[in-house]
Amino acid sequence: MNCLQSWPEPIVRVQSLAESGITAIPDLYIKPPTKRPSLLPANCNQAEVEVNIPVIDLQNLLSQEESLRETTLRSISSACREWGFFQVVNHGVSEELMKRARDTWREFFGLPLDVKQEYSNKPSTYEGYGSRLGVEKGAILDWSDYYFLHYMPASLRNHSKWPALPSSCRKLIEEYSEATVRLCGTLMKLLSQNLGLEEDQLLNAFGGEENIGACLRVNFYPKCPQPDLTLGLSEHSDPGGLTLLLPDENVAGLQVRKGQNWVTVKPVPNAFIVNIGDQMQVLSNAIYKSVEHRVIVNSVKDRVSLALFYNPKSDLLIQPAKKLVTKDRPALYAPMTFDQYRLFIRTKGPCGKAQVESLKSYE
Ligand code: OGA
Ligand code: NI
Repeated sequence: MNCLQSWPEPIVRVQSLAESGITAIPDLYIKPPTKRPSLLPANCNQAEVEVNIPVIDLQNLLSQEESLRETTLRSISSACREWGFFQVVNHGVSEELMKRARDTWREFFGLPLDVKQEYSNKPSTYEGYGSRLGVEKGAILDWSDYYFLHYMPASLRNHSKWPALPSSCRKLIEEYSEATVRLCGTLMKLLSQNLGLEEDQLLNAFGGEENIGACLRVNFYPKCPQPDLTLGLSEHSDPGGLTLLLPDENVAGLQVRKGQNWVTVKPVPNAFIVNIGDQMQVLSNAIYKSVEHRVIVNSVKDRVSLALFYNPKSDLLIQPAKKLVTKDRPALYAPMTFDQYRLFIRTKGPCGKAQVESLKSYE
């Protein structure tokens, strides 16, 4: 893809802009009025704005009491159907590892610019240090920098594309990715069961444990002098299967769409935020929906988050599971590979749910 060979404009690091002491953000980051964060719809329901996404204790799944296990599976099921988002606690990933992951990546973003620039990314693979998503010339940009890397499949795992500094970084990425991929595998089984499928069916549709794709995107949202005018990350749904997000423990920022409103997620200590991606919407024949989300920024604190994307093997055709296609509910989506699918977001940048909606083969 020729258009994905280079960025359409010189890359400016948002962190450098923020640290330069500007008091007004460049026009390039100013969103049109309807896309700005402070706009609440006229009929805004305050109660809804104050709710939080469901919090689920995974330890209950190991309980001796069958009723507790069942209630927990049911809460996961309704979180997937009603929110597309939930937080999990007692998920088996150690708090020490979660803390080390946040600290290490904060340290990376704190390194001098020239050290980070060695890992500057290109739109062909997105691997490395980046500051925009999409290659549309003249696009309005988001107020964030990021680091993107591949962990799975093993053939794409390339340590030389991961930061060498801080010196503990590569080992941390290995440990963190292994633990979070394992947790995603467990969640895949739970979702499969909840959909009435065989436990391994979703995982098999993704190509099986050895073949799935897993990428890490670490987001850095610098302080912003005019947070009302821009977004850290524009509204989008995640293109892949499942996302496991480790949010900043001190700074909120993630907002999830609930009807006409945006609900700001209040991170629970030591929790991960789980959300359904577009491929899961397709596989479940829209029983589960990927939900739009975005990130707001603030003028007081930087924010760091780690998103682990758990994806299908990229050259497999993804389509609604046969068992979920019935006379009353025909297949809503035509088969497509994830490689084909993600070209869209890599070209256009975050565009709400336009892509998965455009796939619909039946209405
Ligand atoms: C993402 C994302 C949310 C956050 O990286 O896709 O939605 O809180 N991140 O950083
Ligand atoms: Ni996202």
